Amino acid sequence: MLRPDYPIETDRLTLRPFAEDDLDALHAYQRLPEVTRYLYWEPRDRAATAESLKKRIAVPTLEKEGDILVLAVVRREDGVLLGEVNLAWLSAANRQGEFGFVFNPAHHGRGYAREAAVEMLRLGFDGLGLHRIIGRCEARNTASANLMAKVGMRREAHFVQNEIVKGEWNDEAVYAMLAEEWAARP
Ligand SMILES: CC(C)(COP(=O)(O)OP(=O)(O)OC[C@H]1O[C@@H](n2cnc3c(N)ncnc32)[C@H](O)[C@@H]1OP(=O)(O)O)[C@@H](O)C(=O)NCCC(=O)NCCS
Repeated sequence: MLRPDYPIETDRLTLRPFAEDDLDALHAYQRLPEVTRYLYWEPRDRAATAESLKKRIAVPTLEKEGDILVLAVVRREDGVLLGEVNLAWLSAANRQGEFGFVFNPAHHGRGYAREAAVEMLRLGFDGLGLHRIIGRCEARNTASANLMAKVGMRREAHFVQNEIVKGEWNDEAVYAMLAEEWAARP
């Protein structure tokens, strides 16, 4: 079980559960085709964003296998919501998890996503006691793949045309890190 002490502070960022007044900031990136390009969903209108916000607010902890924790990432110096990171508890018996990240393109390329992603690894390994955390991305999603390589994950797999997404065959890259690799990171 994982019940983090919020807010979580990093050098530049605050990570915290989503709140009702995050709707505008969430919609600012959920509505963009360039954000959803390699995700499973299409750009959302305001009503669909409000639905997804409700789900985000509902689960500020990981209580059991199958739960997904999604946290808002806020730039501390000005309180701007930059994007989100998530951690899914895939298996209790095998202590497996998966993390992910979605940021507003206005705030890409400054290392914010990486800084926040590392905190999700920390929560997964140090907080929940996971043995292995994976990240998956469409093989053409180089920004996502770069991030996972930069946080020290190994590229474990490249599945060729393993699923149809948005009407076309997709390749999938899988990255992973073990608890012992997390503990030994530089
Ligand atoms: C995936 C995603 C979160 C990556 O965001 P990002 O901003 O590129 O990632 P980072 O935070 O790691 O930033 C990395 C860049 O910031 C630069 N940077 C600038 N200042 C930095 C700092 N202080 N620390 C680290 N990197 C810094 C790095 O050099 C790097 O640029 P480079 O790739 O040209 O070398 C973003 O592309 C996104 O939201 N995409 C849409 C949703 C999506 O596809 N999510 C992934 C699903 S699998």
